[in-house]
Amino acid sequence: MTLSGDKLSFVRASPGDADRFAAHEQRVANRLYGPPLDREACACEIADNALYFVEVEGALGATAAWRLRDDGSAYLCHIAVDPDFRRRGVARAAMHFLLEEARNCARIDLVTHPDNAAALALYRSLGFAVESRKENHSGDGEPRVAMLRRKPLATSRLLLRAVTSSDRMDLHRLEQDPEVMRHLNGGRPTPLEPHAGAETEFLMPRGPEVGLWAVVERQTDRLLGWVSLRPEGNVGDLGYRFFREAWGRGFATEAAQAVIADGFLELGLGRITAETMSVNIASRRVMQRLGMRCVRTFIADYPDKLPGSEQGDVEYALLREEWIPG
Ligand SMILES: CC(C)(COP(=O)(O)OP(=O)(O)OC[C@H]1O[C@@H](n2cnc3c(N)ncnc32)[C@H](O)[C@@H]1OP(=O)(O)O)[C@@H](O)C(=O)NCCC(=O)NCCS
Repeated sequence: MTLSGDKLSFVRASPGDADRFAAHEQRVANRLYGPPLDREACACEIADNALYFVEVEGALGATAAWRLRDDGSAYLCHIAVDPDFRRRGVARAAMHFLLEEARNCARIDLVTHPDNAAALALYRSLGFAVESRKENHSGDGEPRVAMLRRKPLATSRLLLRAVTSSDRMDLHRLEQDPEVMRHLNGGRPTPLEPHAGAETEFLMPRGPEVGLWAVVERQTDRLLGWVSLRPEGNVGDLGYRFFREAWGRGFATEAAQAVIADGFLELGLGRITAETMSVNIASRRVMQRLGMRCVRTFIADYPDKLPGSEQGDVEYALLREEWIPG
């Protein structure tokens, strides 16, 4: 049974709480979380972070902590629920509490064990995407994955928020319209469970993926589609896909303008590129309206020959110094 919010209280730990925290660590430590912190390490954690005891009607249900970095980003250091209080919504409530505290941070990140299915499911449901894998990250010989969640971006009509695991069915539904997929795979329906790989992320994202934003109409709260800016080094690759009902109203341009500004100003990119089939006039119009220049036409060696592929693909690009903020 999920606990209601009024049964939980968040109490900020103070320097005298190291013993209480250390006793909790003994109860939660395991291979996927890590070895228990001793009293001294607990005292340091309390000193360095905003660490909370999550009390369930007075009993210690969990600990949760975060800290603000000098660069303005937030690091969610840990969340650990006592075994007696698991599967009752305590971790989800604690995450909501921490995310609310860190609401002004453009980037929020954390690390977790790649085999920690419970933690991964929770974080994915909140829009955290795996950014990288780190071997022996915590010095315990175990791997960790670094996960990232971005603060939503707003435009006059749109809200761009991190795609979450709950968007999965909608992302798939978007690909079932042959018109939407005409210039991507010829309009074939796609599977709900695609094989993993770079092509999958580009053609069939299922969320959350780094750089993928759900585009929501602010007035109606309706999901209109997605826009992506996938950074690779100094370059961001722009993509977008919208439900047919949302076409023709300038939403793709408006959403792409927001991620381009974010890419140059927040991510520090130097160049943004986008590719489409030469015959995809609507997509090329969006790129032109964004101020991007067509830098090359090329014939790619794709296994699928789509109608119009004999005219090749085009690449558009925009440099940081060419960009005129909207
Ligand atoms: C991971 C952990 C924090 C989850 O705590 P919890 O209070 O049981 O989680 P909640 O009840 O709030 O559930 C939140 C979500 O987590 C996921 N989840 C929780 N337990 C799960 C399990 N056993 N298997 C799969 N998913 C699980 C689900 O997505 C769940 O949402 P849902 O109930 O809507 O499906 C807890 O298992 C724990 O403390 N583990 C040890 C410490 C740890 O590993 N911390 C994470 C370090 S990064």
